[in-house]
Amino acid sequence: MKHSSPIAYSLRHPGKAAWKLLRILRGQVAPAHTVAQSKLPEGLEPLFLLNQQRQFNQNCENMYLFGGSLQRERLDNFARWSAAHYPGDFVEIGAFRGETSKLLAKAAAETGRRLIVIDPWMTGSQDCDGTEHEQFLANIAPWRDSVDVWRESSLNADIIAKLKPRPLCFAFVDGLHTLSACFSDLMAVGHAKGIIATDDVRYNQDLAFAHQHAARLLGREPIIDPDMREAYILPAKA
Ligand SMILES: C[S@@+](CC[C@H](N)C(=O)[O-])C[C@H]1O[C@@H](n2cnc3c(N)ncnc32)[C@H](O)[C@@H]1O
Repeated sequence: MKHSSPIAYSLRHPGKAAWKLLRILRGQVAPAHTVAQSKLPEGLEPLFLLNQQRQFNQNCENMYLFGGSLQRERLDNFARWSAAHYPGDFVEIGAFRGETSKLLAKAAAETGRRLIVIDPWMTGSQDCDGTEHEQFLANIAPWRDSVDVWRESSLNADIIAKLKPRPLCFAFVDGLHTLSACFSDLMAVGHAKGIIATDDVRYNQDLAFAHQHAARLLGREPIIDPDMREAYILPAKA
């Protein structure tokens, strides 16, 4: 994990550091567990594909890619597992070219659910150069009837209000990568009864904080494992 030291972070971002410290002091940040430490529902552990992931990790020097080579397979696994155990649809916040969306759309179609995709595809924002929306539509084309595309920011209050009454079983948060946006996205999908995934937590301490803070407010267990790029929030205990 290549997080900067807490002192360097606090000097660089005093406002955010104070915001975080207050939440830690209030007990609003859940301790994260690795896959091995967590109390997983039966049948979930093999779906993390951790042994295979560790083998890929041995040859990966890039901190942004480390732990991510099997991420799409994991997300597909967890969306299907969530559909098998809970009612509701799938949501992906931040879809880019739809390389993950196409797997989730196929899983939605095959499990009788819908995939909601929320992304403004705004040129200049989070790597978008203007071509991604078309590529996204081409990628999901075979399952287009099972996908609701909301071309808006997930931070838009109307979009959050539209999402809240939709029953959800699975969520993947991968939109705007800031502390406040990621936290807002997690709380917007927090009613997803199955698995909630957040990308890029391994190397981004603001996203890790948002993930652990949201998990505590939702009363659920966060998993952050050094072998995976993304993090998870487990279903609430029965
Ligand atoms: C890292 S990419 C998503 C990658 C995708 N989930 C995948 O697995 O291939 C980030 C996406 O977030 C989107 N994004 C940026 N700001 C956003 C916002 N406010 N609301 C929703 N999505 C946003 C960008 O347009 C971009 O497509």
